[in-house]
Amino acid sequence: MRLNSNFKLPKLIGHRGVKDLKPENTIESISAAFDIGLECVEIDVKISKDYIPLLIHDDTLDRTTNGSGLVCDFSFREINQLDAGYYFYKSKTDIKVPSLRSVLDLVKKNKKSLNIELKPNENFEALNIKKVLEEIKKASYENIYFSSFNLSSCIDLKVNAPDLLCGFLNDDFNQINISETIDICKKYNFFSCGINLNSFSRSIADQFLANDIKITIYSDKNISINEAQSLWNNKVTSIFIDNPKEYF
Ligand code: G3P
Ligand code: MG
Repeated sequence: MRLNSNFKLPKLIGHRGVKDLKPENTIESISAAFDIGLECVEIDVKISKDYIPLLIHDDTLDRTTNGSGLVCDFSFREINQLDAGYYFYKSKTDIKVPSLRSVLDLVKKNKKSLNIELKPNENFEALNIKKVLEEIKKASYENIYFSSFNLSSCIDLKVNAPDLLCGFLNDDFNQINISETIDICKKYNFFSCGINLNSFSRSIADQFLANDIKITIYSDKNISINEAQSLWNNKVTSIFIDNPKEYF
């Protein structure tokens, strides 16, 4: 089965669901994003020890669950028993680390779109993509685009699924400068580049757009509606939002 994307970048993408309102990368966070009115959410995906794709941002379990250690050292069953809401509410919850499969079901049921950020543990990059693509094929849902800071993950994704959309994320133009980033996007057919708000300028936007590469903006803190308006006026296509309430 060949995967085809039917994804269109929206103006707003919920960041890890709505990470300022609910525990990030959980069913609760994604459901809340859809209830508020977002059409698309971003999630961070990596595999467990038994190769099940699941949602978690960090390499380790420590920050967002009551577990400890590398995600890739635990089975999905073990991880799924942890409390993924305690860190947010400061009290015991039944909130779990979800599988990608359960999230695909939710997104499909709501007819929404998804940005899967590939966040593999080190040395698991290729296996991560293989397992994620298997889940997408099983779900038969292609309203998805991929992204990663990890260049080898982006390249591998396009090799295995050339018709799916992939965006490169670059957190530091001192490491890979703007012209090198544009060359990478053109060489591997990455349709967008994700840029930290701190690094953004109109001049950068002009350079990417001259090469037909769309720009998405993320930030370490919530982007206000005034900032967002200015970014959209400066030709940014999409903004990752932690708390979208003032937008609706
Ligand atoms: O893709 C935007 C954003 O998710 C990238 O940063 O660290 O929140 O995954 P991070
Ligand atoms: Mg992310």
